[in-house]
This record gives sequence, C-alpha cells and structure tokens, in this order.
Amino acid sequence: MKIAVAGTGYVGLVAGVCFAEQGYDVTCVDVDEKKIELMRQGISPIYEDGLEELMKKNNARGTLHYTTDYVEAYKDADAIFIGVGTPEMPDGSANLSYIATVSRQIAESVEKDCLVVVKSTVPVGTNDKVEQFIKDFLVHDVKVEVASNPEFLAQGTAVHDTLHAARIIIGTESREAEALLMKIYEPFGLPIVSVKRRSAEMIKYACNDFLALKISYMNDIANLCELVGADITDVAKGMCYDERIGSRFLNAGIGFGGSCFPKDTKALKFLAKEHGYQLRTVEACVAVNADQKTRLFEKAKDRMISFSGLKVAVLGLTFKAGTDDLREAPSIDNIKLLLQGGADIYAYDPKGEERAKLIFPEGKLDKGTMNYVSSPEEALDQANICFVFTEWKEMKDLTPADFKEKMHTPLVYDGRNLYSPEAMKDAGVEYYSIGR
Ligand code: UGA
Repeated sequence: MKIAVAGTGYVGLVAGVCFAEQGYDVTCVDVDEKKIELMRQGISPIYEDGLEELMKKNNARGTLHYTTDYVEAYKDADAIFIGVGTPEMPDGSANLSYIATVSRQIAESVEKDCLVVVKSTVPVGTNDKVEQFIKDFLVHDVKVEVASNPEFLAQGTAVHDTLHAARIIIGTESREAEALLMKIYEPFGLPIVSVKRRSAEMIKYACNDFLALKISYMNDIANLCELVGADITDVAKGMCYDERIGSRFLNAGIGFGGSCFPKDTKALKFLAKEHGYQLRTVEACVAVNADQKTRLFEKAKDRMISFSGLKVAVLGLTFKAGTDDLREAPSIDNIKLLLQGGADIYAYDPKGEERAKLIFPEGKLDKGTMNYVSSPEEALDQANICFVFTEWKEMKDLTPADFKEKMHTPLVYDGRNLYSPEAMKDAGVEYYSIGR
C-alpha cells in the first residue's frame, strides 16, 4: 500500500513517520525544499520526542521518502493524507487555502483510484467541499473519495499519542472508504470509531473545545478561589476522584495557548454564528482565556510603580513544556506588555529561544530590552521580578532558596503553580500564583 502525506508539520510529519513505522511505503510532501533536504538526512524540522529516531530508522529501511514533487507522490498513491495547516483568519474562521491548494494538486496528479483523507482540523462540511473540488478538477478518469480522520495528538507527545491513541476516528460516506481506512489502521491495534464524515469533523472540534472549556472553567474557579480564600490545587485534587470529571486538564494557570485550542475555539464559535447559533459556552471559554493570559501581569502592575529599568526574569516562553512552539503562548502577550512598560527582560527557555527571537529579537525593543540567557539561574541573578510562564523541568527544579538568594528582590509571579506558597513564604519570597 502506497501512502502519500501532504504537509510536514506536526500532524502530517508525525502521521507519515508512524505509517512508515507500521511498514507502509510513505512519501511526505512539502513545498519547502530545505525542509525536505533536512528530513532526508533524518533531521526533524520540529522538536518532538522520539520523532527523529523513527525518521532515521524508517529512512534507513527505505519506507519513508520526502519530496517537493507532489505529482510523483500522488499519482499512484492508494491513500493521500492531508495534514496541512488551517490557521486562524482575522475574523476567527479557519483559513482553508492550504487545503484548497493541496486538493487541486491531488486532482491534477492522481492517475489511479484513491482515497483522500483529511487529517487537518477543518470546519464541519469541509470534507464534502474537498471531494467536490477534487472531482471538479480531476484530470484523469479515476475515482477519488474523501474521508475524515481527525488527529488527536498533543505537541511534545505526538509520536506516543499517534502510536498509542485512545481511539482512531474515521468519517466516511462509503463502505469502500471505511474498509480501506480500517485496513490502514489495523496494524496500530487501536479502537476505531467509524462515523459519517460530518460527525468526524465535529468530534475533533467538540473534543478540543471541551478540553479548552475545562481549562477555562478551572481558571474561572481559580480566580474565585483567590477571592474567597480557597486553593485551586486542593479543589482540583478533590474534584478528580469523580470519574465523571477525570483528573486531567484541571490545571489552572495563565490560560491555554498553542496552535489548536485558541484557533479551534474561535473557529467553532464562528461556525455556529454562520449557522445563526450562538455557542455561549465556547464564547465564555474564549473570553475567560483572553483575560487569564495577562492576569499575573495586571497583578504585578498594581504592585509596582513602574517596570522601567527593572530586571525581569522570564522563565519559559513556549506555550507548554516539551515543545519549541510559541504559537499563542501567553508569554508573548506578557512580554509585549513588559517591554511597553520599559522592562529589561532576561528570558530563559530550554527549547523556545530560537523561535522566540523571531518575535522578540535580542536588544532594545519598545521601551525595554530583550535578552536571552542559558539557565534559570542566570535569568534570576539580581532580578527585581520573576515571571514563570512554562512548566519546564528546569523551572520545577528551582527551590524557594534559589529565588531568595539569586534575585535582587525576591518577587515571583508563577503562572503554572509550580511552587508551594508556604515554602516560598517561609523562604522569604513574595509569591503570587493562580487560585491559591
Ligand atoms: C491539543 C489537544 O490536547 C490534542 O488532543 C489535540 O490533538 C491538539 O490540541 C490539536 O488539535 O492538534 P496541544 O495544543 O498540543 O494539544 O497541547 P495541550 O497539552 O492540550 O495544551 C494546550 C494548552 O492548554 C497549553 O497552553 C497548556 O499549557 C494548557 N493547559 C493544558 C492548561 O492550562 N491546563 C491544563 O490542565 C492542561
């Protein structure tokens, strides 16, 4: 069975590599020649645990190929998986231009019957349009069907999440398409839920938005905890024993970021609006998150006369630990505000520095300065304030004494609730976190 994968971002590349790992002959297609060359050498363009090892292994055994020549990749493929991005448009809707481009290329290239599988997160109804679009532009007399197969991997654990997924969702409109997808996923040995295309598309949004809602709910409760003298970590501990609630995604913090939740909550809100429906729960989730991101900054602003000329330690830049991705990271909103306030920022992140420099180049920026350092200790050295934005192990390993001894004034705003408020207080650190 020949599989082609369009797009080598988190979704496409990880899918391609995992299909190759299962023994399929896989060709990954991307427009970026440099990226293709790197991948041929077994170098992953994204930081993802275990990915490079699998790339190297499958490159070596000849099951994994990379190309910019889409015609060559698509013309005799049995299945073509689309994993290109669907970024957010200014109005909150999903940008489907990459999907459209790939669909057109598929239509012009395929020379035998094939199944096109949309893995990208797309608004409900998009698969129908993709199928029609491909049929409209088909060059050869072949049968092409479109199926939905949303992806549930999280960044940082993408390979594990794919090989050990809780379930595979397939959305098809024919028995043939269903049977082919079932066959492709058979070697994974995972539960498969087979539904119609539109339901599969909706499952993806419903899952992401539910998880985002769970986080915003905990952040909302955390903010109330602060007002009434309760502790959100204890509250979560008490909640998680109820199996109906579960123990995951109960961590209050500085709000969710990343390439999925912010985009998918807005896209579903937009989809509902387009159909004359107001999705009030998701709207509330988006609104809570927007405020949550800069809550700690606002607290610090109230506490200080000014940030001008202060050394501010920023620990963590990425939207979560385990990734080098900064998309929609709460650190970005906060750093912008700090720089506007004239702060001299000393930022540390074990993986995110390179990407952060594309947004905040080193040197004078706005009214402040941006500096990058290679350890949390260096960032804390003689700092006046510290903000913690990402839960990296390097931050978790810091002790209250580290803050007390290294900082000029031990004043810490922790967006990830990493330290014990009591221990910080005992060590003489003025400490603010979320909901405690
Ligand atoms: C998310 C989903 O978890 C995946 O299932 C989904 O496949 C993916 O989106 C996608 O649609 O591609 P991801 O964005 O990689 O994955 O990261 P998460 O681990 O879900 O974290 C998202 C954000 O929520 C992060 O900013 C994280 O810090 C925050 N979060 C997460 C919390 O604030 N509290 C929590 O308890 C959990």
